[in-house]
Amino acid sequence: MTPPDVPVPDGLTHVHTGKVRELYRLPDGRLLMVASDRISAFDFVLDTTIPDKGRVLTAMTVWWFERLASLVPNHLISVDDPLIPNQWRSRAMICTPLRMVPVEAVARGYLTGSGLLDYQRSGAVCGVPLPAGLVDGDELPAPIFTPATKADVGEHDENVSFEAIAATVGVETADRVRDLTLAVYAAAREVARERGILLADTKFEFGYDEDGRLVLGDEVLTPDSSRFWPADDWQPGRPQPSFDKQFVRNWLLSPDAGWDRAAGGPPPPLPPEVAAATRARYVEAYERLTGKSFDDWLGPEAVGG
Ligand SMILES: Nc1ncnc2c1ncn2[C@@H]1O[C@H](COP(=O)(O)OP(=O)(O)OP(=O)(O)O)[C@@H](O)[C@H]1O
Ligand SMILES: [Mg+2]
Repeated sequence: MTPPDVPVPDGLTHVHTGKVRELYRLPDGRLLMVASDRISAFDFVLDTTIPDKGRVLTAMTVWWFERLASLVPNHLISVDDPLIPNQWRSRAMICTPLRMVPVEAVARGYLTGSGLLDYQRSGAVCGVPLPAGLVDGDELPAPIFTPATKADVGEHDENVSFEAIAATVGVETADRVRDLTLAVYAAAREVARERGILLADTKFEFGYDEDGRLVLGDEVLTPDSSRFWPADDWQPGRPQPSFDKQFVRNWLLSPDAGWDRAAGGPPPPLPPEVAAATRARYVEAYERLTGKSFDDWLGPEAVGG
């Protein structure tokens, strides 16, 4: 059972429900971020959960935070603390509370999704001009910063220009968020590419800590916050298969699902074999990236009490 289908443990205050994660406050004021096994596809949170997905995404985020620590400070305090309720161990992170910068800090190295739509309309993404003739899935001449403002629940985030962000958060913060976003994306994409995964784009969230430092928050460089493409199957000119969700999408669009997507109703639950195959993809993504076995994530030696 993952949140929110379990009672709130004593001492915790529930502060936020996202599509996939639940946020709680600990008695000492720090945050507890719990990743559930929920999955979204085609903008719906599905009725079926993917076993271990929240654990895999937490493991991946922790791994990236450690690897990137020399580039950017992050909000992670601990994943192995007696204050973490046992049933959430390995899917929960204790984090420093930040004053979030209200910007979805997106870096793109490839053109697709809302970036592609923007480009087809205007020849630019978030005001960044691009060469003519690019198609879905093309690699960009250089990665670009394409910020978005966070939409209300049920709405899409809105792509905006760098100038619009600067007008909201100030030029200094906007500059730093852009520079950090591009630097972290560049480093991560090299790591992923060596392991056969194209990190097409990614979204970061930054915030200020008590000491006024700009800190990387939220989850990072997971399939939920990024597009992971299998490098072997990359072929511009068509939508790319997704490393993690392709089985889900293929099945939902197949006659077996009997789902009339155009009618706008929610998709049906996934068959167990599709859920199992999808779990295996998430585990594979973690193991490929990190070179570690998922079975060892917070293994017995880390169990404290
Ligand atoms: N260290 C932090 N301090 C304060 N808030 C944080 C911190 N890290 C992340 N957040 C915020 O916590 C929330 C995490 O929730 P989550 O991502 O699950 O939901 P969401 O962003 O509202 O919706 P979505 O499901 O679309 O992502 C976000 O609002 C994020 O900005
Ligand atoms: Mg979010």
